[in-house]
Amino acid sequence: PSDTGRVLSIQSHTVQGYVGNKSAVFPLQLLGFDVDPINSVQFSNHTGYPTFRGQVLDGKQLWDLIEGLEENQLLHYTHLLTGYIGSVSFLDTVLQVVDKLRSVNPDLVYVCDPVLGDEGKLYVPQELISVYQQKVVPVASMLTPNQFEVELLTGLRITSEQDGLTACNTLHSAGPRKVVITSALIGGKLLLIGSHKKTQEQPPEQFKIEIPKIPAYFAGTGDLTTALLLGWSNKYPDSLETAAELAVSSLQALLKRTVEDYKRAGFDPSTSSLEIRLIQSQDDIRNPVVTCKAVKF
Ligand code: ATP
Ligand code: PLP
Ligand code: MG
Ligand code: NA
Ligand code: MG
Repeated sequence: PSDTGRVLSIQSHTVQGYVGNKSAVFPLQLLGFDVDPINSVQFSNHTGYPTFRGQVLDGKQLWDLIEGLEENQLLHYTHLLTGYIGSVSFLDTVLQVVDKLRSVNPDLVYVCDPVLGDEGKLYVPQELISVYQQKVVPVASMLTPNQFEVELLTGLRITSEQDGLTACNTLHSAGPRKVVITSALIGGKLLLIGSHKKTQEQPPEQFKIEIPKIPAYFAGTGDLTTALLLGWSNKYPDSLETAAELAVSSLQALLKRTVEDYKRAGFDPSTSSLEIRLIQSQDDIRNPVVTCKAVKF
């Protein structure tokens, strides 16, 4: 546990707007981390717009960058962060990166957002699911799936809080000591569910945070949530609850500002996916006021 660290963040880059690395790098820097981004894609804008253009990095090109760092002994990282990954070959190379970084620093923390889809819709090739299940989940330190992703990874349907907790237990037994279901709609409520298996012998510490649902759809919030969970978990390694309260509270302040800004500009925020006001919310990231409290199970 230290105040700071060096994060290798392998995520998307968009020229305009804040998803992937664009929504993760700046907040982690604000929290005091050195962040080294590898852009898995470079797109003009996020894929929710009518069109997008750009380039995709392949597994070989990713490995080339890692070899460049290795040649100069620049591979010492405290954290690896990964988000959306579009192909099996790229994901296999990410697994090689995990091994390589752990050979340099055995204490490397791997924070994995297993991005597969949302609200019943898969947005990666089907073959990725089993690679995540069999190879990625076992090496992750912290996993941050949403409700649909937990269902895909565990084969369990999540319709109650108890289902969510059971699924977290299943994921713990496959590897990660920290699991955060970053959003789940259960009984009409939007919840974050967290689970921290501190020791092999004891049951995990589990909690939920109820999130006031804002009637709008945002891009980049999942990526931002995982980045903030990484950041605050480093500061509070023994309290996933505290880390999650801080992350959710920052998100709420930022989303409120985002909606208000759109409304002020005469835009109906319920009509399309909104770009988050990340830069304008830097105080809410650096010094969040906890407005959303965790409730223990
Ligand atoms: P990922 O897509 O990365 O796997 P995810 O589906 O959980 O994760 P989001 O749906 O963006 O990602 O939710 C992440 C967080 O963003 C939530 O925990 C919540 O704090 C916030 N959030 C997103 N949308 C809303 C909303 N409409 N109202 C309130 N909070 C929201
Ligand atoms: N990465 C890319 C390239 C995207 O186009 C998008 C959303 O459209 C995301 C990531 C989504 O991020 P999130 O799940 O955080 O909303
Ligand atoms: Mg979601
Ligand atoms: Na998530
Ligand atoms: Mg998402």
